[in-house]
Amino acid sequence: MCGIVGYSGPENPKDVILSGLKSLEYRGYDSAGVAILNHGEFKRIRAEGKLSTLQKKLESETFDGHLGIGHTRWATHGAPVEKNAHPHTVRGISLVHNGIIENYLELKDALGPQTKFTSDTDSELVAHLIADEIERTHDLLKAVVNVLPRLQGAYSILVVSKDHPDEMVAFKNGPPLIVGSAQGAVLVASDVQAILPYTKKVVYLNDLEIAHVKGESFKVFDSLGRPLEKSVTTIDWTAEQAKKEGYEHFMLKEIFEQPRAVARVLAPHVDVSKHTVHVLEGTGLSERFREAERIAVIACGTSFYAGQVGAYLLEKLAKVSVTTDIASEFRYREPVIAKNTVAILISQSGETADTLAVLRQLKKVKVPVLSICNVKNSTIDREADGHLYMNSGPEVGVASTKAFTSTLALLHLLALDVAKVRSTLPLQDEERYVRALLAAPAQMETVLACDKFFGEAAATLKNFKGFLYMGRGVNYPIALEGALKLKELAYMHAEGYAAGEMKHGPLALIDGRMAVVMLAPSDELYEKTLSNLEEAKARGGVIISIGTLGNDKLRDLSTHYLALPRAEWSVNPMLEAIPLQLLAYHVAHALGHDVDQPRNLAKSVTVE
Ligand code: G6P
Repeated sequence: MCGIVGYSGPENPKDVILSGLKSLEYRGYDSAGVAILNHGEFKRIRAEGKLSTLQKKLESETFDGHLGIGHTRWATHGAPVEKNAHPHTVRGISLVHNGIIENYLELKDALGPQTKFTSDTDSELVAHLIADEIERTHDLLKAVVNVLPRLQGAYSILVVSKDHPDEMVAFKNGPPLIVGSAQGAVLVASDVQAILPYTKKVVYLNDLEIAHVKGESFKVFDSLGRPLEKSVTTIDWTAEQAKKEGYEHFMLKEIFEQPRAVARVLAPHVDVSKHTVHVLEGTGLSERFREAERIAVIACGTSFYAGQVGAYLLEKLAKVSVTTDIASEFRYREPVIAKNTVAILISQSGETADTLAVLRQLKKVKVPVLSICNVKNSTIDREADGHLYMNSGPEVGVASTKAFTSTLALLHLLALDVAKVRSTLPLQDEERYVRALLAAPAQMETVLACDKFFGEAAATLKNFKGFLYMGRGVNYPIALEGALKLKELAYMHAEGYAAGEMKHGPLALIDGRMAVVMLAPSDELYEKTLSNLEEAKARGGVIISIGTLGNDKLRDLSTHYLALPRAEWSVNPMLEAIPLQLLAYHVAHALGHDVDQPRNLAKSVTVE
């Protein structure tokens, strides 16, 4: 997940781009670069490491032009070294990219061996494609229109050309791109924060739209190059809204923050040049996990459901027996603790009374405890033997969202590392999973687009008598979490079920007033989940299915079908969580409930 800034206007582009990149540094900070017009050419300066390194490098640089682009990178394809930093320059084309070109190997093969690459990125390929098209069309906009249909994946791109020195073209499919018009200037950025110091009037690009900047103005086109009328949004935030970054509620802001939160939790534990994981190292518990005969995952509420997803991952990848327990049950059931047990305790607040009691109980019998908390120096964090952090930043909404998906990402890393110390996963599989995890933040940005669907559907959904959430395997705990979200926020009856259990009871509940939310992404259980769905459909249930792009059978069986991008089975839960959070948020909002502070609940439950 990277940050993009472009500027065309009277001020010094170097300063504008650097300050924009600074506000986007949360999106990625392993390398950065700019390409700014100087003597009719785009002068490119890039640096490995944090933005401050680039800043230093740029101190002595001057540029006489008034247009430029910049980028702060979060590596997915290729190590975070200077040659992979953006912009990528090919025959006078300079380009910055956020996201992933899924078919890049295919497109690279099509270019043939005569095309030489100077980086390991998928982004450089797009620069080659556009450079080829510019040679044919001599038109930057047309070149982009011709290249766009060939790209698959979730991406946003900003490109300039030395032959068109007063132009920039931005286009996207998935991750956000925003264009703002200031006095005699145009800015393009991944996030409104980079634009706000210059203008409050912005245009949000939709997927497959193209913004063509020329001098001090810009126009928006569809993917075929036909002009579009776009509405201008005025960002007029009060102090309270500024804290919410313009979102109506903290919860919505936190839902939208998830791609960055997940990127942030992955960054310290992943070697992006080798696509390997190092998460156990700092916990001092590697040896314990290697020798463990049992892993016990214990937590409450949303953290418990994250733990259940973690249990599937640990068993499947690290081939170790895992038990999951709700803390308030574990502490009173006089559990028989297997030899060589290691415990993982999950608590975003780090203060939940039942989880803390379990921690103390386990320590008495000398079970090593790894804590996963969001709040550093909380009691659970302080008292555990090893520590990992969700690193989500403050979560204000009582119903947990970003802490949940960050925990899923962290547990995935942990399962990979436990697999590594136990030698149960071939290196190439670890690399494959790491690539899939690195792709997740950009994919999550794409999934956030379903906000619109739930915003509109909420008026109907709020009238249902109840909701059944179904999933199998790793998706089952997400069904439980989806139901919990709706209960917490909308105060409606909602249940999560293992889809295979439908015929053992819940089928009796189904009629035209019951909504069935089916999680059926492409994985080894997809066909089986479809059969469960047929059972619900035959009974007249209204079916909202969440599957993978191109699942036609699922789409045909469903009343509403939401397509997630293609991902590893183990990453699907992180993507599925988003529509379920948005469903609960919008239904609760449509019912007039306080979504940030639902009745009777608290963020941190320090009593039994
Ligand atoms: C409360 C919160 C939930 C949270 C649960 C466990 O019920 O409202 O959002 O999942 O406590 O909290 P913890 O801090 O231990 O993760």
